Amino acid sequence: MFAQRTKNLNSSFIRDILAVTQQPHIISFAGGLPDPALFPAGELQLAAERMHQQLGNSLYQYSETAGLPPLREYIAEHLTIADCQADEIIITTGSQQGLDLVVRCLIDPGQKVVVEAPTYLGALQVLRANQAELITIPSDDQGPDLHALEEIVKKEPIRFFYTVTDFQNPTGTSYSRERRERLVALAKKYDFLILEDAPYAALRYSGEALPSLHTLMPNRVIRFGSFSKIIAPALRLGWINAPREVIKVVEKLKQAADLHSSGYDQHLVLEYLKSGALKPHLQKIRAAYGDRLDAMASALSRYLPDQVQFTKPEGGMFIWATLTHHESTLELFNSAIEQGVAFVPGEAFYANGESNISMRLNFSNSQLDKIEEGVKRLARLINQHDPVKLSATA
Ligand SMILES: Cc1ncc(COP(=O)(O)O)c(C=O)c1O
Repeated sequence: MFAQRTKNLNSSFIRDILAVTQQPHIISFAGGLPDPALFPAGELQLAAERMHQQLGNSLYQYSETAGLPPLREYIAEHLTIADCQADEIIITTGSQQGLDLVVRCLIDPGQKVVVEAPTYLGALQVLRANQAELITIPSDDQGPDLHALEEIVKKEPIRFFYTVTDFQNPTGTSYSRERRERLVALAKKYDFLILEDAPYAALRYSGEALPSLHTLMPNRVIRFGSFSKIIAPALRLGWINAPREVIKVVEKLKQAADLHSSGYDQHLVLEYLKSGALKPHLQKIRAAYGDRLDAMASALSRYLPDQVQFTKPEGGMFIWATLTHHESTLELFNSAIEQGVAFVPGEAFYANGESNISMRLNFSNSQLDKIEEGVKRLARLINQHDPVKLSATA
């Protein structure tokens, strides 16, 4: 009954477990959620009042598919690192829709795409839904294994490489300068495109910002931005920054998909941005999330010194913790819920679903005391199930 493209679809593990992990007694490090207590609700309300006064009923009218021109101009001028114009920006319904539209523009069924293992689960869903053939390469704390990538592109053409260069979901790691430069050189040599997904790039808490792939190679990189993590995800607003010829084709597909993203929300965000409120808001959330990142890293070192190794991100929302003794974090998940703590088992982020001993831990949506208590619960769980200790006591 259903089309071929629905055959590879699987529901997101993270969305499926959301109801379980949101029970009040559970400390959840599972969702990739910003903290609602830090949403700029007051400023948004004031912005809403101003826009109602200024625009009246016209606020509720249909609008342009590519997005409100002044919002595109604002993004081009203030929110992209590369030098770009408004017609190289299209507004999308979350960056997730941006990904879907671009993938649909670029991929015919069966065409090859390279992703890292692990990578963003939502990108895997889009790629599967569009029947891409997925090839994976490993990555480390400096970025992707470029020898592995070169071996692939040497043998056969790929349509593109998908990546999150800054504070990746799920590992929290960012590409080093050297890896960025070598990746761009490889894309030029073997003539492939790069999809650079950047919803966390503005959430840097320490260290120095590095040039985006888009800045290094604007004609071959399609970059995705989002207001979800820097203002609020319910607005469902993101953008694509790409060469004009790509924007034109994406615009046609977007027309077919939803005519345009919510005009109401676009006016609201524009009014909010024009008031200059984003800069102090970013300072506030960077300070709060930076403290939470430090608290989680410190708790992991104190409570699980030998049982886990974990990444040391300089921003974003996630730490990736790898167990030194266990065989699968998926097997620990139900016991974790019983202990009152939740995480996302690493398996969810692998294109081939291979069994995995890592877990994604979100730190942005828990207060400092909850982070401490949650890691304590995690330590209790891991120690109880530690195969090395168990065999010693057997
Ligand atoms: C890497 C990455 N890309 C895209 C998205 C989707 O974000 P949006 O809310 O803008 O659709 C997310 C959301 O968590 C993400 O982590």
